Amino acid sequence: MTKRVPLIAGNWKLNHGGPSSCALALDVVRGLAAGAFPRGSVEVVLAPPFTALAAVSATLEEEAASLSVPVEVAAQNLYPVDEGAFTGEVSAPMLLDAGCKWVIIGHSERRQLFGETDEGVEAKVSAALRAGLRPIACVGETWEERSAGSTLEVIRRQVSAFAAALAAQPGVGVIAYEPVWAIGTGQVAGPDEAQAVHAAIRAQLAEINQQFADVTRLLYGGSVKPDNARGLLACPDIDGALVGGASLKASAFVGIAAATLPEG
Ligand code: 13P
Repeated sequence: MTKRVPLIAGNWKLNHGGPSSCALALDVVRGLAAGAFPRGSVEVVLAPPFTALAAVSATLEEEAASLSVPVEVAAQNLYPVDEGAFTGEVSAPMLLDAGCKWVIIGHSERRQLFGETDEGVEAKVSAALRAGLRPIACVGETWEERSAGSTLEVIRRQVSAFAAALAAQPGVGVIAYEPVWAIGTGQVAGPDEAQAVHAAIRAQLAEINQQFADVTRLLYGGSVKPDNARGLLACPDIDGALVGGASLKASAFVGIAAATLPEG
């Protein structure tokens, strides 16, 4: 059985400029240091807005000596072409330049508000991997889709768009299952509900290659808080969390990271 190191990622969405992003990153680093996490027990990723990426990366670099667990930076999106006449867009090499190691791709807010398609998500996942960025590829069903009983079908379609791209570099990218109805609503998926979807995703990856399925971390996202994180993270196919609202408060975010450790 492959051991997958838990990954806790904070998606700050459209919150915080440079200075306040650095302050929040520092609070997270200090909270993690105070938490006495055993080496190799958890990995942490912070996703500030584009304009704060370089500053947060520099702050984390300065704090490297005091980092008890790895804390790396993610962007929240990218454009899948490296350079050219694409006004307003930011490419994977530019994100690497700004100190990013990761990039969130296909978040439901991007799919719903900015018209991202499965094909577009695949192009972005491939562009990230080509450049050496680690994608956090997001999938999730709406409430209407869940009510219609089509959750697993929707997730299967979304995963199938980028699964082959991820399989080319097993273990580099991760998948985040974020039911749209659970995002920012306080209505978290129950552990059994979330585990069922995670197990289906892993089974789908195993159709490509068992080793790929074994090493790929699957994160749950949607109203994760310190008080519900332990139940979710205890599920066999839930390897971490993608946290929105609670990641804006260092103590809550560190509390979620602590929920990956054995109780006591
Ligand atoms: P919340 O944790 O605020 O529900 O957001 C989840 C999310 O969208 C993370 O990407």
